Amino acid sequence: MFPSFVANLHNLHDYFALVLARSGHNFRAHGPLGTGMRLFVTCDPANIRHIFTTNYTNFPKGAEFSAIFDIMGGSLFTIDGELCRQQRANVKGVLSSPWKVARIAACCRDKVENNLLPLFTNMESIGTPFDMQEMMSRFMFDLAAMPLFGVDPGLVSSDMPPMDVAVAMDTVMEVGFFRHVMSASCWKLMRRLNIGPERKLRVAHTMLRGFIVDMMERRKINACHIGNDEEQEGDTVGTTLTWIFYNLAQNPNIVSIIRNELSPIASNKVAAGVDAMVIFEPDETKSLVYLKAVLYETLRLYPPAPFERKTVAADDIMPSGHELGTGDTILISLHSMGRMEGLWGKDCLNYNPDRWLSEDGNKLKYVPSHKFLAFNSGPRICLGKDIAVMQMKTVIASTLWNFDVEVMEGQSIQAKPSCILEMKNGLMVKLKKRGM
Ligand code: HEM
Repeated sequence: MFPSFVANLHNLHDYFALVLARSGHNFRAHGPLGTGMRLFVTCDPANIRHIFTTNYTNFPKGAEFSAIFDIMGGSLFTIDGELCRQQRANVKGVLSSPWKVARIAACCRDKVENNLLPLFTNMESIGTPFDMQEMMSRFMFDLAAMPLFGVDPGLVSSDMPPMDVAVAMDTVMEVGFFRHVMSASCWKLMRRLNIGPERKLRVAHTMLRGFIVDMMERRKINACHIGNDEEQEGDTVGTTLTWIFYNLAQNPNIVSIIRNELSPIASNKVAAGVDAMVIFEPDETKSLVYLKAVLYETLRLYPPAPFERKTVAADDIMPSGHELGTGDTILISLHSMGRMEGLWGKDCLNYNPDRWLSEDGNKLKYVPSHKFLAFNSGPRICLGKDIAVMQMKTVIASTLWNFDVEVMEGQSIQAKPSCILEMKNGLMVKLKKRGM
């Protein structure tokens, strides 16, 4: 399959989905002779449960993974074993503190009120289309950086300052993607020669290090490690928000249902005399089931982390019967999982939040994390799921209630080949204030 693999390098997420659908959810790929690449690609929930939970210790991220993301060396994202267990417990302690969660929620709410909606109002009055993906990326970059550095980088403002650091982080994710699918000897040689994507990556590393030193200086924080985890978390939320806006623009009926769900909350505010923009507090949107179904449906089809990588520590047999050898690499395609008829039925490619609702529509159906892997599964499951849902609900509710979002026609919407499922060409939109 090497020639078709190379021909589809620009479109690997869809290519994997096609091959996985035809091959019964699993396939093997061996690299060209001499590279030692042995890949097992899967989107089979039984295998995923085995890899992420049942036999979890046999499938670390591995040394190759931390080499690929060398800029994040030492951060939770790249480590395994005892060190990971300790760091994870620390992060869990922080992210489950009610005080911390309340602060993150207040920060998000205030940023929507003081920066995002005023900027949207400005964009609406000028009437020029703008890139919603860039806007979400700016918004989430500021939000993620604030608790880390205690400084708001101020990327969401009418003068739209350059966002070189966010662009550098995108480069890390794009070049990281190519490192995943290339043999290690090949990308390491390119790195030594400073050519191709590795040259671009070196510039991005310099930029990121400079930014962190600058922020540390400004806050005099002890630089014990380069904590890019937070920025990556911002990327995942920003990317999901962009896909939500895109899908909602194709489905005005879904927008109406969301607005109906928001309506009782908004009426209370209007009755209480709020006549400007309506802001939805994180506490107010917590119980909104349909809005959550919309978020999950978007994450099913467009998981911002489109694949996971694991290494086989010792020979193992998958529930599917595939035998894996020590040192093999496993790629788990989350992007393909949402697109398998065998998992989600014949309408798997349709954007349909109803599939998440219980019979009476009052709660969400239970779907195990080894089938809906967007937030990972097992001992390394995402620690920020509730925070991410809160942030997305706050942005979507406040934007959709106050504005109609129109996606400009004639755009080519494609996923970027990267470790984060961004849109390759962005998402140009125009806003219109809603008359209430
Ligand atoms: C739509 C939003 C999000 C999605 C889809 C998501 C998904 C994921 C995934 C797939 C992983 C596993 C990554 C890996 O090990 O390769 C992960 C890990 C993690 N996430 Fe999230 N995430 C989101 C937002 C957030 C937010 C907002 C936070 C923090 C406030 C957060 C905190 C974490 C942490 C700390 C880990 C590391 C867990 C570990 O390595 O043991 N995430 N997330």
